[in-house]
Amino acid sequence: MNPESQDTARSSTPETIPAISFAHQRDEAAERRKEYPFRFPADLRQLGGKYSVAENSRRLLRFFYFERRLMQALGAWTLSIPEFEVKLETGRHIFYHADAARLLRERLNEQEARQKEIDQFRDQQIDRFIEEMLSANSACELLVGVHRVLGHALEMAYRHHLDDTDQVTDVPTIRCLRRILIDYEPMLQWADAAILAYVEGGVAEAPLASWRWHLQRLLASIGGVTGSDVRTESPTPLRTDSKAFLRGTVPLRDVRFDTFKNTGDYDAADAQERFPKDSYENLRLRFIRTQRDEVDAIEAFGTFIWHIRFKDFQSEHNLARITWDEARHTEIGHRALLACGYDPFELLNRLTGSTCRGTMEPAFAMA
Ligand SMILES: [Fe+2]
Repeated sequence: MNPESQDTARSSTPETIPAISFAHQRDEAAERRKEYPFRFPADLRQLGGKYSVAENSRRLLRFFYFERRLMQALGAWTLSIPEFEVKLETGRHIFYHADAARLLRERLNEQEARQKEIDQFRDQQIDRFIEEMLSANSACELLVGVHRVLGHALEMAYRHHLDDTDQVTDVPTIRCLRRILIDYEPMLQWADAAILAYVEGGVAEAPLASWRWHLQRLLASIGGVTGSDVRTESPTPLRTDSKAFLRGTVPLRDVRFDTFKNTGDYDAADAQERFPKDSYENLRLRFIRTQRDEVDAIEAFGTFIWHIRFKDFQSEHNLARITWDEARHTEIGHRALLACGYDPFELLNRLTGSTCRGTMEPAFAMA
């Protein structure tokens, strides 16, 4: 139990805790101490932090909610990201946020909140921010909102929390946040580099800066990630004021890809055979191409997370884990094609698995 949880009223004179020592015991202890030969490293952490247990939980619950919402939010965009590298990386990030949510949820459950209360927690102001962030006009704008605005704000909030919480009693929270930051560091570094690559590749920088400014003001208007910062006025208008966010239904691919969806058979799509049917070489290439084309599975499971959002946390987490696996399968396929001597983009990309993520009912698409 955190000693700070006792919200006793403080009187104007500092409270002293009476300590009653018996002289002989104290002297004997001093004598025994002299006999003790070991000088172990001193642990300099101090007892006492800035938060009561209730305030600690309130902050962690917001962190949990932001992470859960980020997992779902990125899922909604998996079809609409054209750039292969960004789609793949986003498949990974979905799991990073899911797993951050899992760690925070476990820690909250150890504190005072019950699992059901944690899972049923909703915050309309955070939802409004997430929906606005999702109303990005491009994948690059999405990265700006998700990483440059919200991701950086969360990282900073975690670092502040690490410094401000009780260094002795709240070690499980410290360990939880440090583990989350292990994923955050490479994720945010990658996002900064990716946004720079978009700009260097011709995406106009000023609208990105405006979008960042807009979302930062919106986040500030709800008191930032913790809800405890001074609240500023909300920017107007929001994109979601005139048009609610609706996920894309078309599987987008960047210009390097040529695609087909008329058949599941690669030889039929190519209109010629590379290797004799049923030969080992034919099967091997089909297997590797299928792995690369599991880029459609990132879209399938990402979209599915969005559709089942808030139904059951464990199911959302399981789907996020699968989405991460599909990102790995995709990159294994891509690299294996390179290792076989192909330019992976010379091989047509099969879209049959992606097209059903469009307008079809999610349960049918999943089936
Ligand atoms: Fe897979």
